[in-house]
Amino acid sequence: GPSLDELARAGGRRFGAVVGGGAPGTLTGSFADPALRALLVAECGLLVSENEMKWAALRPAPDRYDFAAADRQVAFADENGLGFRGHTLLWHHPQWFPAWAATHDFGPHPATAVESMLTDHVAKVAGRYKRKIVSWDVVNEAVDADTGAMRETPFSRHIPAEQVLDIAFHKAREVLPRGQLVYNDYMSWEPGHENHRAGVLRLLEGFRKRGTPVDALGIQSHIGTANTDSSTGFGDYHEAEWRRFVDVAVGMGYDIIITEFDVHDKGLPADIPSRDRAVADYARAYLDLMLSYPQLTDIVTWGMSDRYSWLQNLWLRPDRLPKRPTPYDADFKPKPLRDAIAAAL
Ligand code: XIL
Repeated sequence: GPSLDELARAGGRRFGAVVGGGAPGTLTGSFADPALRALLVAECGLLVSENEMKWAALRPAPDRYDFAAADRQVAFADENGLGFRGHTLLWHHPQWFPAWAATHDFGPHPATAVESMLTDHVAKVAGRYKRKIVSWDVVNEAVDADTGAMRETPFSRHIPAEQVLDIAFHKAREVLPRGQLVYNDYMSWEPGHENHRAGVLRLLEGFRKRGTPVDALGIQSHIGTANTDSSTGFGDYHEAEWRRFVDVAVGMGYDIIITEFDVHDKGLPADIPSRDRAVADYARAYLDLMLSYPQLTDIVTWGMSDRYSWLQNLWLRPDRLPKRPTPYDADFKPKPLRDAIAAAL
């Protein structure tokens, strides 16, 4: 039968998946597995680096760039006729920024020093791949999920938070005049995301008011259980509120992308057939809604196989069983989720 990417293309979109995910700067994780790589080539039209293009990977020290792992992934995609999305030029949440950034001495003119460190990074990274990567998550997760306010970061200590983002987007536009520049975040349709959604809409509105060049909203789409240790529920979502949120974003002229799709099954009972069914049905409802928007350009999963899902190491199930959040199981057999995606496309 047709691949997921072929199905997506029939609707004018692309289907893709994440690759990599090992320790920053290494080629470990799913990229090291030939069976997984073959699955990506069979199903996808598009890849994205899980960790290999983050600052922690590319910037082992303030004055040093290391592109080896990212280059290998991009070359692999190219050799196999796959496109590539960039993730991400700026994720300056302290937890995910390189450790040196927290204590870095920006000298007597810190605002100028921050600006040049950031523009140098965007120019070098986006510039290096400009023939291969035309869609970038320029900024990732800048809005505090609890309050909807802008996050405090090592950069926002010296330049107002929104302005840090504007600098990154303007530089990215300079490098990629026709590229797709994306703001990416994890607000979702589940309860508890109200402040996050409101904060993201305020940010998107601010971009428009200031003339910041942003083309699309990346909707990560880690759906299922809320991503907290306290929550074990599954299946509760606010469809009408979510539609309103997406309507406002596209109404401001933004395209949308599903950038990191997976279904968190932490709150579902152990039985595998019924667990896989519930995950597939939940995904179908979500994808049907999202695919009703002609502004949706791409659908990217954060893992093609349960074997390599980032969720295996986080927010453990109470029974400690492996999770089943992706379209293929740990032995690379297709699951009902794969059929649900195909049917939705
Ligand atoms: C995750 C990776 O999957 C993990 O391997 C890593 O330890 C942390 O980051 N939102 C994002 C992604 O934008 O970059 C995150 O990726 C998952 C959540």
